[in-house]
Amino acid sequence: MRHLRQRRFILRAACILLFLQLCLIVGHARFKQPNDEYQGRRTGLRSSVDGPVVIFGYTGHEDSSEVAIFFQEENFYYLSGYDYPGAALVLIPDLPEKPHEGPHEILYIPPHNRGEEKWEGTKPSPGDPDILTKTGFEAVKPFANLRGDLAELAKTYSNFYTELPPKHEEGYPHLTIWNKWLRDAVPQAEVQDVTKTLSPMRLIKSQGELDLMQKAIDASIDAHFDAMKHMRPGMFEYQIAARMKEIHELAGCSREAYAPIVGSGFNSTVLHYSRLNDQIKAGDIVVMDVGGEYGGYAADITRTLPATGKFTARQREIYEIVLEAQNAALAAVKPGARLYDGPGNLQEIVTNYFNSHGHDKQGKPLGKYYIHGVSHYLGLNVHDVGDRDRPLEAGMVITVEPGLYIPEENIGVRIEDDVLVTKDGYQILTARLPRTVEEIEKIMAEGRKEEKKHPQKTD
Ligand code: GLY
Ligand code: MN
Ligand code: MN
Repeated sequence: MRHLRQRRFILRAACILLFLQLCLIVGHARFKQPNDEYQGRRTGLRSSVDGPVVIFGYTGHEDSSEVAIFFQEENFYYLSGYDYPGAALVLIPDLPEKPHEGPHEILYIPPHNRGEEKWEGTKPSPGDPDILTKTGFEAVKPFANLRGDLAELAKTYSNFYTELPPKHEEGYPHLTIWNKWLRDAVPQAEVQDVTKTLSPMRLIKSQGELDLMQKAIDASIDAHFDAMKHMRPGMFEYQIAARMKEIHELAGCSREAYAPIVGSGFNSTVLHYSRLNDQIKAGDIVVMDVGGEYGGYAADITRTLPATGKFTARQREIYEIVLEAQNAALAAVKPGARLYDGPGNLQEIVTNYFNSHGHDKQGKPLGKYYIHGVSHYLGLNVHDVGDRDRPLEAGMVITVEPGLYIPEENIGVRIEDDVLVTKDGYQILTARLPRTVEEIEKIMAEGRKEEKKHPQKTD
Protein backbone atom coordinates (compact mmCIF):
# COMPACT_ATOMS: atom_id res chain seq x y z
CA MET A 1 0.00 0.00 0.00
CA ARG A 2 2.74 2.43 1.00
CA HIS A 3 4.66 1.37 -2.07
CA LEU A 4 1.66 2.11 -4.27
CA ARG A 5 1.24 5.56 -2.72
CA GLN A 6 4.91 6.31 -3.35
CA ARG A 7 4.58 5.29 -6.99
CA ARG A 8 1.51 7.47 -7.39
CA PHE A 9 3.40 10.38 -5.85
CA ILE A 10 6.33 9.92 -8.25
CA LEU A 11 3.97 9.64 -11.23
CA ARG A 12 2.13 12.78 -10.17
CA ALA A 13 5.38 14.67 -9.66
CA ALA A 14 6.59 13.54 -13.11
CA CYS A 15 3.33 14.74 -14.70
CA ILE A 16 3.63 18.14 -13.01
CA LEU A 17 7.22 18.49 -14.18
CA LEU A 18 6.23 17.57 -17.75
CA PHE A 19 3.38 20.08 -17.60
CA LEU A 20 5.69 22.84 -16.34
CA GLN A 21 8.16 22.03 -19.09
CA LEU A 22 5.38 22.18 -21.70
CA CYS A 23 4.27 25.53 -20.27
CA LEU A 24 7.81 26.82 -20.72
CA ILE A 25 7.95 25.63 -24.33
CA VAL A 26 4.50 26.99 -25.13
CA GLY A 27 5.27 30.23 -23.28
CA HIS A 28 8.37 30.70 -25.35
CA ALA A 29 6.69 29.82 -28.64
CA ARG A 30 3.89 32.30 -28.01
CA PHE A 31 6.03 35.37 -28.39
CA LYS A 32 9.55 34.98 -29.61
CA GLN A 33 11.42 33.48 -32.50
CA PRO A 34 14.95 32.11 -32.00
CA ASN A 35 17.56 34.81 -31.38
CA ASP A 36 19.38 34.04 -34.65
CA GLU A 37 16.32 35.16 -36.64
CA TYR A 38 16.58 38.67 -35.17
CA GLN A 39 20.34 38.55 -35.44
CA GLY A 40 20.07 37.74 -39.17
CA ARG A 41 17.84 40.78 -39.68
CA ARG A 42 20.32 43.00 -37.85
CA THR A 43 23.20 41.73 -39.97
CA GLY A 44 21.15 42.30 -43.13
CA LEU A 45 20.29 45.86 -42.17
CA ARG A 46 23.81 46.67 -40.97
CA SER A 47 25.29 45.54 -44.27
CA SER A 48 23.01 47.90 -46.24
CA VAL A 49 23.97 51.18 -44.55
CA ASP A 50 27.10 53.33 -44.25
CA GLY A 51 26.52 54.54 -40.71
CA PRO A 52 25.18 53.43 -37.32
CA VAL A 53 21.50 52.47 -37.08
CA VAL A 54 19.83 53.67 -33.89
CA ILE A 55 16.36 52.38 -33.00
CA PHE A 56 14.53 53.25 -29.81
CA GLY A 57 12.06 50.92 -28.11
CA TYR A 58 9.08 52.22 -26.19
CA THR A 59 9.61 53.46 -22.64
CA GLY A 60 6.28 52.25 -21.25
CA HIS A 61 5.16 55.85 -20.68
CA GLU A 62 3.45 56.15 -24.09
CA ASP A 63 0.10 55.14 -22.62
CA SER A 64 -0.50 56.19 -19.02
CA SER A 65 -3.99 54.71 -18.63
CA GLU A 66 -4.69 52.13 -15.93
CA VAL A 67 -5.42 49.41 -18.47
CA ALA A 68 -2.24 49.91 -20.52
CA ILE A 69 -0.10 46.83 -21.07
CA PHE A 70 3.41 47.17 -22.49
CA PHE A 71 3.82 46.31 -26.17
CA GLN A 72 7.11 46.94 -27.91
CA GLU A 73 7.76 49.37 -30.79
CA GLU A 74 7.48 47.38 -34.03
CA ASN A 75 10.80 48.14 -35.73
CA PHE A 76 12.66 47.65 -32.48
CA TYR A 77 10.90 44.34 -31.89
CA TYR A 78 11.50 43.20 -35.48
CA LEU A 79 15.24 43.67 -34.99
CA SER A 80 15.58 42.47 -31.41
CA GLY A 81 12.65 40.35 -30.18
CA TYR A 82 13.30 42.26 -26.95
CA ASP A 83 10.07 43.00 -25.16
CA TYR A 84 10.93 45.21 -22.16
CA PRO A 85 10.63 49.01 -21.88
CA GLY A 86 13.34 51.66 -22.02
CA ALA A 87 15.73 50.00 -24.50
CA ALA A 88 17.53 51.07 -27.67
CA LEU A 89 19.72 49.26 -30.16
CA VAL A 90 22.70 50.36 -32.22
CA LEU A 91 24.01 48.52 -35.29
CA ILE A 92 27.44 49.58 -36.51
CA PRO A 93 28.60 48.80 -40.06
CA ASP A 94 32.21 48.37 -41.13
CA LEU A 95 33.36 51.10 -43.48
CA PRO A 96 35.54 49.70 -46.32
CA GLU A 97 38.41 51.93 -45.32
CA LYS A 98 37.94 51.50 -41.57
CA PRO A 99 36.43 48.31 -40.06
CA HIS A 100 34.78 49.01 -36.72
CA GLU A 101 36.64 47.73 -33.68
CA GLY A 102 34.47 46.26 -30.93
CA PRO A 103 30.90 44.95 -30.94
CA HIS A 104 28.77 45.73 -34.00
CA GLU A 105 25.35 45.14 -32.43
CA ILE A 106 24.66 46.61 -29.03
CA LEU A 107 21.52 46.55 -26.94
CA TYR A 108 21.16 49.38 -24.42
CA ILE A 109 18.83 48.69 -21.49
CA PRO A 110 18.16 50.17 -18.04
CA PRO A 111 19.81 48.48 -15.03
CA HIS A 112 17.75 46.65 -12.41
CA ASN A 113 15.39 48.83 -10.44
CA ARG A 114 14.64 46.52 -7.52
CA GLY A 115 11.86 48.72 -6.14
CA GLU A 116 10.00 48.73 -9.46
CA GLU A 117 10.69 45.03 -10.00
CA LYS A 118 8.88 44.20 -6.73
CA TRP A 119 5.72 45.49 -8.46
CA GLU A 120 6.32 44.49 -12.05
CA GLY A 121 8.54 41.40 -11.87
CA THR A 122 12.23 41.02 -12.69
CA LYS A 123 13.51 42.57 -15.91
CA PRO A 124 16.79 41.92 -17.70
CA SER A 125 19.72 44.15 -16.78
CA PRO A 126 23.10 44.80 -18.47
CA GLY A 127 25.10 43.00 -15.77
CA ASP A 128 23.06 39.77 -15.70
CA PRO A 129 25.35 36.77 -16.23
CA ASP A 130 23.15 35.26 -18.98
CA ILE A 131 22.24 38.53 -20.68
CA LEU A 132 24.10 37.84 -23.96
CA THR A 133 22.62 34.37 -24.50
CA LYS A 134 19.19 35.63 -23.47
CA THR A 135 19.15 38.59 -25.86
CA GLY A 136 21.40 37.26 -28.66
CA PHE A 137 23.27 40.60 -28.84
CA GLU A 138 27.03 40.92 -29.07
CA ALA A 139 27.01 43.40 -26.20
CA VAL A 140 24.43 44.69 -23.72
CA LYS A 141 25.16 48.01 -22.02
CA PRO A 142 23.41 50.41 -19.65
CA PHE A 143 21.11 52.83 -21.48
CA ALA A 144 22.96 55.69 -19.78
CA ASN A 145 26.04 54.85 -21.91
CA LEU A 146 24.20 55.37 -25.21
CA ARG A 147 24.71 59.10 -25.56
CA GLY A 148 28.47 58.92 -24.99
CA ASP A 149 28.87 55.91 -27.31
CA LEU A 150 26.98 57.70 -30.11
CA ALA A 151 29.14 60.81 -29.69
CA GLU A 152 32.21 58.58 -30.04
CA LEU A 153 30.78 56.94 -33.20
CA ALA A 154 30.07 60.38 -34.67
CA LYS A 155 33.83 60.95 -34.82
CA THR A 156 34.02 58.20 -37.50
CA TYR A 157 30.60 58.16 -39.19
CA SER A 158 28.91 61.12 -40.82
CA ASN A 159 25.57 59.36 -41.47
CA PHE A 160 23.31 57.97 -38.75
CA TYR A 161 20.13 56.01 -39.57
CA THR A 162 16.90 56.04 -37.59
CA GLU A 163 13.16 56.26 -38.20
CA LEU A 164 12.34 59.89 -39.00
CA PRO A 165 9.11 61.33 -37.57
CA PRO A 166 6.31 62.41 -39.91
CA LYS A 167 5.46 66.13 -39.94
CA HIS A 168 2.51 65.54 -37.62
CA GLU A 169 3.08 62.42 -35.58
CA GLU A 170 -0.21 60.94 -34.41
CA GLY A 171 -0.64 59.81 -30.80
CA TYR A 172 2.35 59.79 -28.46
CA PRO A 173 5.26 61.59 -30.22
CA HIS A 174 7.77 58.75 -29.78
CA LEU A 175 9.70 59.44 -33.00
CA THR A 176 9.68 63.21 -32.57
CA ILE A 177 11.09 62.94 -29.03
CA TRP A 178 13.84 60.44 -29.87
CA ASN A 179 14.84 62.16 -33.11
CA LYS A 180 15.43 65.34 -31.17
CA TRP A 181 17.40 63.35 -28.58
CA LEU A 182 19.53 61.74 -31.31
CA ARG A 183 20.20 65.05 -33.09
CA ASP A 184 21.28 66.55 -29.76
CA ALA A 185 23.60 63.58 -29.14
CA VAL A 186 25.27 63.72 -32.59
CA PRO A 187 24.75 67.34 -33.77
CA GLN A 188 27.36 67.12 -36.53
CA ALA A 189 25.87 63.95 -38.15
CA GLU A 190 23.39 63.64 -41.03
CA VAL A 191 20.36 61.76 -39.69
CA GLN A 192 18.91 59.56 -42.43
CA ASP A 193 15.69 57.55 -42.81
CA VAL A 194 16.26 53.88 -41.95
CA THR A 195 12.79 52.81 -43.09
CA LYS A 196 13.88 53.01 -46.74
CA THR A 197 15.89 49.85 -45.99
CA LEU A 198 13.98 48.43 -43.06
CA SER A 199 10.41 48.54 -44.40
CA PRO A 200 11.24 46.51 -47.55
CA MET A 201 12.85 43.91 -45.25
CA ARG A 202 9.68 43.71 -43.16
CA LEU A 203 7.62 43.20 -46.34
CA ILE A 204 9.05 39.75 -47.00
CA LYS A 205 8.00 37.35 -44.27
CA SER A 206 10.19 34.54 -42.95
CA GLN A 207 8.76 31.11 -42.13
CA GLY A 208 8.95 32.03 -38.43
CA GLU A 209 6.84 35.13 -39.03
CA LEU A 210 4.37 33.17 -41.15
CA ASP A 211 4.00 30.59 -38.38
CA LEU A 212 3.11 33.27 -35.85
CA MET A 213 0.74 34.97 -38.27
CA GLN A 214 -0.97 31.66 -38.99
CA LYS A 215 -1.59 31.25 -35.26
CA ALA A 216 -3.26 34.68 -35.21
CA ILE A 217 -5.25 33.73 -38.30
CA ASP A 218 -6.33 30.32 -36.95
CA ALA A 219 -7.56 31.82 -33.68
CA SER A 220 -9.42 34.49 -35.65
CA ILE A 221 -10.98 31.92 -37.98
CA ASP A 222 -12.23 29.94 -34.95
CA ALA A 223 -13.76 33.15 -33.63
CA HIS A 224 -15.51 33.83 -36.96
CA PHE A 225 -16.91 30.27 -36.99
CA ASP A 226 -18.24 30.88 -33.49
CA ALA A 227 -19.90 34.11 -34.63
CA MET A 228 -21.51 32.30 -37.57
CA LYS A 229 -22.92 29.68 -35.22
CA HIS A 230 -24.14 32.06 -32.52
CA MET A 231 -25.35 35.11 -34.46
CA ARG A 232 -29.03 35.73 -33.62
CA PRO A 233 -31.36 38.70 -33.94
CA GLY A 234 -31.70 40.21 -30.45
CA MET A 235 -28.02 39.91 -29.59
CA PHE A 236 -26.00 43.07 -29.21
CA GLU A 237 -23.07 43.74 -31.52
CA TYR A 238 -20.73 43.82 -28.51
CA GLN A 239 -21.83 40.33 -27.50
CA ILE A 240 -20.65 38.88 -30.82
CA ALA A 241 -17.34 40.74 -30.40
CA ALA A 242 -17.01 39.54 -26.78
CA ARG A 243 -17.26 35.89 -27.81
CA MET A 244 -14.70 36.44 -30.58
CA LYS A 245 -12.23 38.22 -28.31
CA GLU A 246 -12.49 35.44 -25.75
CA ILE A 247 -11.63 32.86 -28.41
CA HIS A 248 -8.60 34.90 -29.48
CA GLU A 249 -7.32 35.17 -25.93
CA LEU A 250 -7.91 31.51 -25.09
CA ALA A 251 -5.85 30.61 -28.16
CA GLY A 252 -2.92 32.73 -26.93
CA CYS A 253 -3.48 36.04 -28.70
CA SER A 254 -2.07 38.84 -26.59
CA ARG A 255 -4.51 41.45 -27.86
CA GLU A 256 -6.80 42.35 -30.75
CA ALA A 257 -4.98 43.32 -33.94
CA TYR A 258 -7.37 46.32 -34.21
CA ALA A 259 -10.62 47.49 -32.66
CA PRO A 260 -13.25 44.85 -33.56
CA ILE A 261 -15.92 45.90 -36.04
CA VAL A 262 -19.32 44.26 -35.71
CA GLY A 263 -21.77 46.45 -37.60
CA SER A 264 -25.41 45.46 -38.10
CA GLY A 265 -27.96 47.06 -40.43
CA PHE A 266 -26.93 50.63 -41.26
CA ASN A 267 -23.74 50.15 -39.22
CA SER A 268 -22.58 47.59 -41.77
CA THR A 269 -21.99 50.54 -44.11
CA VAL A 270 -19.71 52.37 -41.64
CA LEU A 271 -16.17 51.28 -42.50
CA HIS A 272 -14.51 51.42 -39.08
CA TYR A 273 -17.62 51.13 -36.90
CA SER A 274 -16.34 50.25 -33.42
CA ARG A 275 -19.03 51.39 -30.97
CA LEU A 276 -20.82 48.01 -31.09
CA ASN A 277 -23.77 49.36 -29.07
CA ASP A 278 -26.70 48.31 -31.23
CA GLN A 279 -29.00 45.33 -31.00
CA ILE A 280 -28.95 43.10 -34.07
CA LYS A 281 -32.34 42.91 -35.76
CA ALA A 282 -33.94 40.25 -37.95
CA GLY A 283 -33.29 41.19 -41.57
CA ASP A 284 -29.99 42.93 -40.74
CA ILE A 285 -26.81 42.12 -42.53
CA VAL A 286 -23.79 42.13 -40.17
CA VAL A 287 -20.21 42.99 -41.14
CA MET A 288 -17.67 41.44 -38.77
CA ASP A 289 -14.11 42.65 -39.26
CA VAL A 290 -12.34 41.05 -36.31
CA GLY A 291 -8.82 39.66 -35.94
CA GLY A 292 -6.43 38.78 -33.14
CA GLU A 293 -2.72 39.41 -32.71
CA TYR A 294 -0.40 36.52 -31.83
CA GLY A 295 3.26 36.93 -30.97
CA GLY A 296 3.05 40.45 -32.39
CA TYR A 297 1.54 39.39 -35.76
CA ALA A 298 -1.89 40.48 -36.93
CA ALA A 299 -4.77 38.67 -38.56
CA ASP A 300 -7.30 40.78 -40.47
CA ILE A 301 -10.49 38.95 -41.44
CA THR A 302 -13.96 40.13 -42.45
CA ARG A 303 -17.04 38.08 -43.01
CA THR A 304 -20.57 39.36 -43.61
CA LEU A 305 -23.55 37.41 -42.29
CA PRO A 306 -27.34 37.63 -42.38
CA ALA A 307 -28.60 37.98 -38.79
CA THR A 308 -31.32 35.37 -39.29
CA GLY A 309 -29.03 32.85 -40.98
CA LYS A 310 -30.53 33.43 -44.46
CA PHE A 311 -29.56 36.27 -46.81
CA THR A 312 -32.47 38.16 -48.39
CA ALA A 313 -32.48 38.13 -52.20
CA ARG A 314 -30.98 41.64 -52.38
CA GLN A 315 -28.38 40.95 -49.69
CA ARG A 316 -27.39 37.79 -51.53
CA GLU A 317 -27.11 39.65 -54.84
CA ILE A 318 -24.77 42.27 -53.36
CA TYR A 319 -22.84 39.64 -51.37
CA GLU A 320 -22.17 37.55 -54.46
CA ILE A 321 -21.00 40.57 -56.45
CA VAL A 322 -18.46 41.33 -53.70
CA LEU A 323 -17.42 37.67 -53.57
CA GLU A 324 -16.87 37.48 -57.34
CA ALA A 325 -14.94 40.76 -57.27
CA GLN A 326 -12.75 39.26 -54.54
CA ASN A 327 -12.24 36.10 -56.60
CA ALA A 328 -11.25 38.21 -59.62
CA ALA A 329 -8.73 40.13 -57.51
CA LEU A 330 -7.36 36.95 -55.94
CA ALA A 331 -6.85 35.40 -59.36
CA ALA A 332 -4.51 38.27 -60.24
CA VAL A 333 -2.25 37.85 -57.18
CA LYS A 334 1.24 36.73 -58.14
CA PRO A 335 4.75 38.13 -58.14
CA GLY A 336 4.86 41.23 -60.33
CA ALA A 337 1.15 42.09 -59.87
CA ARG A 338 0.28 45.55 -58.55
CA LEU A 339 -2.18 46.59 -55.84
CA TYR A 340 -2.90 50.19 -56.90
CA ASP A 341 -0.55 51.24 -59.61
CA GLY A 342 -0.09 50.21 -63.22
CA PRO A 343 -2.32 48.37 -65.66
CA GLY A 344 -4.41 45.47 -64.31
CA ASN A 345 -3.90 46.45 -60.68
CA LEU A 346 -6.15 44.79 -58.07
CA GLN A 347 -7.98 48.00 -57.19
CA GLU A 348 -8.90 48.50 -60.84
CA ILE A 349 -10.05 44.87 -61.20
CA VAL A 350 -12.43 45.26 -58.27
CA THR A 351 -13.71 48.70 -59.33
CA ASN A 352 -14.34 47.49 -62.89
CA TYR A 353 -16.17 44.44 -61.56
CA PHE A 354 -18.44 46.59 -59.39
CA ASN A 355 -19.13 48.97 -62.26
CA SER A 356 -20.15 46.15 -64.57
CA HIS A 357 -22.26 44.00 -62.22
CA GLY A 358 -25.52 44.93 -60.50
CA HIS A 359 -27.12 48.34 -59.91
CA ASP A 360 -28.30 50.54 -57.09
CA LYS A 361 -31.97 51.44 -56.59
CA GLN A 362 -31.61 54.23 -59.18
CA GLY A 363 -30.26 51.80 -61.75
CA LYS A 364 -26.73 53.24 -61.45
CA PRO A 365 -23.49 51.19 -61.33
CA LEU A 366 -22.26 50.05 -57.93
CA GLY A 367 -18.68 51.32 -58.21
CA LYS A 368 -19.42 54.48 -56.25
CA TYR A 369 -20.27 52.35 -53.18
CA TYR A 370 -16.75 50.96 -53.08
CA ILE A 371 -14.99 53.53 -50.91
CA HIS A 372 -11.71 52.03 -49.73
CA GLY A 373 -8.61 50.25 -50.95
CA VAL A 374 -8.54 46.62 -52.00
CA SER A 375 -5.49 45.63 -50.02
CA HIS A 376 -2.75 46.41 -47.55
CA TYR A 377 0.24 44.55 -46.23
CA LEU A 378 -0.13 42.52 -43.07
CA GLY A 379 2.52 41.80 -40.43
CA LEU A 380 3.56 43.27 -37.10
CA ASN A 381 1.00 45.96 -37.86
CA VAL A 382 -2.43 45.28 -39.30
CA HIS A 383 -1.69 47.99 -41.88
CA ASP A 384 1.90 46.92 -42.24
CA VAL A 385 4.76 49.06 -43.50
CA GLY A 386 5.91 49.14 -47.12
CA ASP A 387 5.24 50.89 -50.40
CA ARG A 388 1.85 49.75 -51.74
CA ASP A 389 2.74 50.88 -55.25
CA ARG A 390 5.56 48.40 -55.77
CA PRO A 391 5.08 45.06 -57.56
CA LEU A 392 4.19 42.09 -55.38
CA GLU A 393 6.91 39.59 -54.47
CA ALA A 394 6.86 36.07 -53.07
CA GLY A 395 6.84 36.18 -49.27
CA MET A 396 4.63 39.26 -48.95
CA VAL A 397 1.35 38.91 -47.05
CA ILE A 398 -1.54 41.08 -48.19
CA THR A 399 -5.24 41.37 -47.51
CA VAL A 400 -7.77 41.17 -50.33
CA GLU A 401 -10.83 43.00 -49.09
CA PRO A 402 -13.36 44.41 -51.54
CA GLY A 403 -16.60 45.82 -50.15
CA LEU A 404 -19.81 47.60 -51.15
CA TYR A 405 -21.53 49.98 -48.74
CA ILE A 406 -25.02 51.15 -49.70
CA PRO A 407 -26.36 53.28 -46.80
CA GLU A 408 -29.78 53.89 -48.40
CA GLU A 409 -30.37 50.11 -48.37
CA ASN A 410 -28.69 49.43 -44.99
CA ILE A 411 -26.47 46.96 -46.80
CA GLY A 412 -22.74 46.83 -46.29
CA VAL A 413 -20.75 43.82 -47.44
CA ARG A 414 -17.02 43.30 -47.01
CA ILE A 415 -15.15 40.04 -47.49
CA GLU A 416 -11.55 40.11 -46.35
CA ASP A 417 -8.93 37.38 -46.55
CA ASP A 418 -5.22 37.21 -45.77
CA VAL A 419 -3.06 36.05 -48.64
CA LEU A 420 0.55 34.99 -48.99
CA VAL A 421 2.17 35.79 -52.34
CA THR A 422 4.00 32.65 -53.48
CA LYS A 423 6.45 32.20 -56.33
CA ASP A 424 3.70 30.82 -58.59
CA GLY A 425 0.72 32.84 -57.36
CA TYR A 426 -0.86 32.93 -53.95
CA GLN A 427 -1.99 30.97 -50.92
CA ILE A 428 -5.06 32.06 -48.96
CA LEU A 429 -4.00 31.82 -45.32
CA THR A 430 -7.63 32.22 -44.26
CA ALA A 431 -8.93 29.50 -46.63
CA ARG A 432 -10.37 27.40 -43.77
CA LEU A 433 -13.06 30.05 -43.24
CA PRO A 434 -15.83 29.67 -45.89
CA ARG A 435 -16.89 32.59 -48.06
CA THR A 436 -19.81 31.41 -50.20
CA VAL A 437 -23.48 32.08 -49.38
CA GLU A 438 -24.26 28.35 -49.29
CA GLU A 439 -21.42 27.50 -46.92
CA ILE A 440 -22.17 30.41 -44.59
CA GLU A 441 -25.90 29.63 -44.43
CA LYS A 442 -25.06 25.97 -43.77
CA ILE A 443 -22.79 26.79 -40.82
CA MET A 444 -25.37 29.21 -39.43
CA ALA A 445 -28.05 26.50 -39.72
CA GLU A 446 -25.76 24.01 -37.95
CA GLY A 447 -25.33 26.50 -35.12
CA ARG A 448 -29.10 26.69 -34.73
CA LYS A 449 -29.45 22.91 -34.78
CA GLU A 450 -26.74 22.51 -32.15
CA GLU A 451 -28.52 25.06 -29.97
CA LYS A 452 -31.78 23.11 -30.18
CA LYS A 453 -29.90 20.03 -28.93
CA HIS A 454 -28.08 21.97 -26.20
CA PRO A 455 -30.09 25.15 -25.48
CA GLN A 456 -28.04 28.02 -24.03
CA LYS A 457 -29.01 29.25 -20.59
CA THR A 458 -30.48 32.71 -21.01
CA ASP A 459 -31.32 33.69 -17.42
N1 GLY B 1 -9.53 45.85 -40.15
C1 GLY B 1 -8.99 46.99 -40.78
C2 GLY B 1 -8.83 46.77 -42.22
O1 GLY B 1 -9.42 45.88 -42.79
O2 GLY B 1 -8.07 47.43 -42.87
MN1 MN C 1 -7.73 45.05 -43.85
MN1 MN D 1 -10.18 44.25 -41.70
